[in-house]
Amino acid sequence: MSAGIELQTGAGWDAAVGSMVNPSDRRGGTLRLVSSADVDSLDPARTYYVWVWLLQRMLNRTLMAYPTDAALTGLTPVPDLAEAPGEVSDDGRTWTYRLRPGVRYDDGTEVTSFDIRYAVQRVFAQDVLPGGPTYLISLLDDPDRPYPGPYRDPDGLAAVRTPDARTIVFHLRSPFADFDHLMAQPCVSPVPRSADTGARYGEDPRCSGPYRIAAYRPGELLRLDRNPHWDPATDPVRPALPDQVELTIGMTVDELDDRLIAGEFDINLEGRGIQHAAQRRIMADEVLQSNSDNPKTGFLQFISVNKQIPPFDNVHVRRAVQYAADKILLQEARGGPVTGGEIATALFPPRLPAYQGLDRYPTGQDLRGDLDAARAELAAAGLPDGFNAVIGTQRGKFRLVADALAESVARVGIRLSVVELDVASYFSLGVGKPATIREHSLGLVVTDWGADFPTEYGFLAPLVDGRQIKEAGGNWNLAELDEPAVNDLIDRTLITADPERRARLWQEVEREVMDHAVILPLVHDKTLHYRNPWVTNVYVHPAFGLYDVQAMGLMEER
Ligand code: ARG
Repeated sequence: MSAGIELQTGAGWDAAVGSMVNPSDRRGGTLRLVSSADVDSLDPARTYYVWVWLLQRMLNRTLMAYPTDAALTGLTPVPDLAEAPGEVSDDGRTWTYRLRPGVRYDDGTEVTSFDIRYAVQRVFAQDVLPGGPTYLISLLDDPDRPYPGPYRDPDGLAAVRTPDARTIVFHLRSPFADFDHLMAQPCVSPVPRSADTGARYGEDPRCSGPYRIAAYRPGELLRLDRNPHWDPATDPVRPALPDQVELTIGMTVDELDDRLIAGEFDINLEGRGIQHAAQRRIMADEVLQSNSDNPKTGFLQFISVNKQIPPFDNVHVRRAVQYAADKILLQEARGGPVTGGEIATALFPPRLPAYQGLDRYPTGQDLRGDLDAARAELAAAGLPDGFNAVIGTQRGKFRLVADALAESVARVGIRLSVVELDVASYFSLGVGKPATIREHSLGLVVTDWGADFPTEYGFLAPLVDGRQIKEAGGNWNLAELDEPAVNDLIDRTLITADPERRARLWQEVEREVMDHAVILPLVHDKTLHYRNPWVTNVYVHPAFGLYDVQAMGLMEER
């Protein structure tokens, strides 16, 4: 990097949020990415990390895909391998897609509808290929004859049909208005049956996108080069500008930040953003700030209030917690307004159509809590002097949040003791398992959540749909809310084709859930990211909350 660039002011603070920095169609060069952690998997069926899903956009195409678009229109999938969005039947259960002709894998063979059906079959083989999202199983499986995946039953998935090599028809068990979004998830990237090696497929996957894997050394390096058979004329989404992409993996987060800002790498691919030491450097330096973005990630940081654990079975007790929260203290526990997030008073991320700025439990002008209202709720619950309870959390930032809540509610006599659970199993067998919640009497739990696809259903249903409570673990409806009124509204959204009516129904769901006071919203999560000024087409993708790396290119002068 030349000293000239170092002194120049960049595109501006937050310039890559909602718009594109350095728009360009210049091809060539090597995009140098960096990540402290390794990818979770290069098998498109087995990844769940958001940043790996963004990396997958370079390697694989899907029937539908989120467009290269920094505006809110980027939230709506567009046809990618398909010629048009899914054609849905009147009853909302049959979805038909036709493939574009002439799309080829990196070995030159043509992508067919059979390969997409095969990818769907692989999702059912959770015993061999765990790790990815599983929405398709509940939508397509026959509970009387569960499909075990292609390794145990090569052809048994009756709900997906391929009348010819370019047509695929999905027969859903119940209507699902967001189906195009599921067809944009990496797990349905085409996989030719002949290339599948089961659990080892990630070591040598076929690629239908503009890039293929040239080298991968786990924990060290991933190099991509061009898929010579990718035809830009068939791809409405990907500019595919760099000739090569090199991802350096594995260094401490602070070393990574230093080397990124020094220009040794172009972009940090990983989602966690700039860490404490470099944050202070950036916030004290105007030039660095002008090359930084502070987007909302789409994650909500919140505390779940569990209806099963007394005295939280009483709605007045739950409401007392809402009113007693010191929102400023809790925001500070998350890291403050820049690296923590924006104070939340309800559930939906502001970018979703149903966002309504709801504030059911105002915490006073200074946002430090409405203690009179909290005391009135405690009195209504017959607990005017407060009570003892337990909050579940894990070490790190979640612990700071638990302590901040304990300090908040102590002001009205609610005495919390804190239980730290294991980090690695926190969401699976820790708080994600209702039996564990009961075992430790966790009336309150520190948690967060980001949608797997950017719709109201994707965001809220896993948290509040009573039919999605998972006793065996991996449960996200931590409150174990199972209200007929909420469940029915969710079902109505799934058969409502008109987006505006659907958004209004979701607003009702949000009001209903906040009325039950089972989720105490803290902040809409934000992250700080640094972009080197010579990178082109830099923007935070609204569907993912992170930089859309597939769009990027490099300026000539370096
Ligand atoms: N829903 C999961 C969570 O909140 C993952 C969300 C991000 N990953 C993704 N691929 N969208 O932990």
